Amino acid sequence: MRLEGRKALVTGGASGIGTAIAARLAAEGAEVWVGDIDVEGAERVAGEVNGHALELDVTDLESARAAVEAVGTLDILVNNAGTDEFGFFTYTSPEQWHRLIGINLIGVFNCTHAALPAMQEAKYGRILSISSEAGRVGSKGSAVYSATKGGVVAFMKAIARENARYGVTANSIAPGPIETPLLMGAKEFGEIGEKVIETMRSSTQMGRLGQPEEVAAAAAFLVSDDATYVTGETLGVSGGLGMV
Ligand SMILES: NC(=O)c1ccc[n+]([C@@H]2O[C@H](COP(=O)([O-])OP(=O)(O)OC[C@H]3O[C@@H](n4cnc5c(N)ncnc54)[C@H](O)[C@@H]3O)[C@@H](O)[C@H]2O)c1
Repeated sequence: MRLEGRKALVTGGASGIGTAIAARLAAEGAEVWVGDIDVEGAERVAGEVNGHALELDVTDLESARAAVEAVGTLDILVNNAGTDEFGFFTYTSPEQWHRLIGINLIGVFNCTHAALPAMQEAKYGRILSISSEAGRVGSKGSAVYSATKGGVVAFMKAIARENARYGVTANSIAPGPIETPLLMGAKEFGEIGEKVIETMRSSTQMGRLGQPEEVAAAAAFLVSDDATYVTGETLGVSGGLGMV
């Protein structure tokens, strides 16, 4: 029960990794708000974790502000909402780039911007962003996604530097291939999608896909007071895919 008495907001909590994080934080005692554009999904997960659902579009600063306000004193922000559109870069369009940047990068700016002032005042806060190993090694077929995730890592480091004096930590997790609707959606692309998943699986040292709960366990550590001296870090949860 490392998170007893803490209030946490998990963005994109209606599916995959976000759902597992919401469940793990709740299991460790946190009061959890599940924020998602998929309101029905958020309500379902909130019911499962005995938490609260929020309609949240991370691309919209006002929506992020309203979510943070609805929580009250927010102790833990998990920037998890994110997406990808598979395609080799030359076949992608500026519309796709802007959509990915809006959700994966500006979405993290919006929620962090909304959450920080009260955390600074409270002299306590935990900000955790779900980046990706793609942001560190670059992923074939996900060039813009990789760029957004690299941006998230750099952004968390800068936030960590600016906010250590306020008792606020900021870290990232870089998952490898995790079995969620986002990754398994690559199968819609037929043989090439299957190949992408297989290439990712075989790029891990462990030779398998990860499970959302394995990311959630790392998340719970980084937002807990077991990690009081950890900030600006990027923790790979990727079966050894991203090790240097
Ligand atoms: N699955 C993987 O292999 C993998 C690997 C590395 C990183 N990640 C990252 O983990 C995070 C979660 O991914 P996942 O695999 O669980 O995906 P997912 O598609 O299962 O879940 C993503 C959730 O984000 C929500 N969302 C999308 N746009 C939103 C918006 N504008 N505002 C609020 N919510 C929004 C969706 O409704 C969905 O519930 C993402 O940031 C993703 O980039 C995933």
